[in-house]
Amino acid sequence: MSDLLPVVGVVGAGIMGAQIAQVIATAGCAVRLYDRDPAQLPRAMDTIEHGRFGLRRAVDRGKLAPGEVAAILARLHPAATLAEAVGDAGLVVEAVPEDLDLKCRVFRELDERAPPRAILTSNSAGLPITALAHATRRPGQVIGWHWAQPCAVMRMAELVRAPSTTDEAVAVVSDLARRCGKNPVVVKDQPEVWGYVANRINAAVRRESRRVVDEGICTEAEVDQLMKDCFRWPMGPFELWGGTTLK
Ligand SMILES: NC(=O)c1ccc[n+]([C@@H]2O[C@H](COP(=O)([O-])OP(=O)(O)OC[C@H]3O[C@@H](n4cnc5c(N)ncnc54)[C@H](O)[C@@H]3O)[C@@H](O)[C@H]2O)c1
Repeated sequence: MSDLLPVVGVVGAGIMGAQIAQVIATAGCAVRLYDRDPAQLPRAMDTIEHGRFGLRRAVDRGKLAPGEVAAILARLHPAATLAEAVGDAGLVVEAVPEDLDLKCRVFRELDERAPPRAILTSNSAGLPITALAHATRRPGQVIGWHWAQPCAVMRMAELVRAPSTTDEAVAVVSDLARRCGKNPVVVKDQPEVWGYVANRINAAVRRESRRVVDEGICTEAEVDQLMKDCFRWPMGPFELWGGTTLK
């Protein structure tokens, strides 16, 4: 692991940021967690400790030794300012809402506050990493790191490489993802299409599942049964995503 990595800044402490902070602290890094809304930080810390996929439940399920909880919590530091969160970070994970203008603004600010060698990653679900890279003066050190939730359980690490992203940045983030128990897969950024790979394929399955039911060809339950029996999917699309809301 890079000598810079022991400190990781996580920016945005909502649903994803809190879980990502938990996983990275569990992997052994010191994590500074920041949110524009200060009220979000105690909520995030509570989720990390007591949430459904938090540390205490991990102990109950036998996934974590009881003695590890205090050490992991000691590695997690709520930060009052962005500068405090990323000022000595080797790597930053951005997890603010899915809005390109907002993310570009955040990346410009991260570029000013984080050490020049720090790698800046985004948990965007599908926005162009190339645009985030060019919002900074370090486009080689910008890379997408798309997580799936619950982050403590799901093994996806979709690493999204912009044309500018260096091999070193890919290697450092792949290494940390593996330390977090994930299976890194590096994909190319495709700025014209939202969703990288996982969410593009997900969207296509959702769209087509809805379509065959709307065309009256079969029922939702029948789609689910066919997909399980034909492709050994553990659940059908309607079971997984919920019937009436599936679009
Ligand atoms: N929710 C999911 O299942 C999921 C899965 C994969 C990826 N993502 C992606 O992760 C990102 C975050 O999603 P989320 O579901 O955690 O959103 P969220 O709304 O739960 O959390 C976002 C947090 O960012 C904070 N924030 C907003 N502007 C900020 C700023 N300028 N600086 C610091 N903090 C700021 C907000 O106060 C909020 O607490 C999005 O890009 C989303 O597409 C979400």
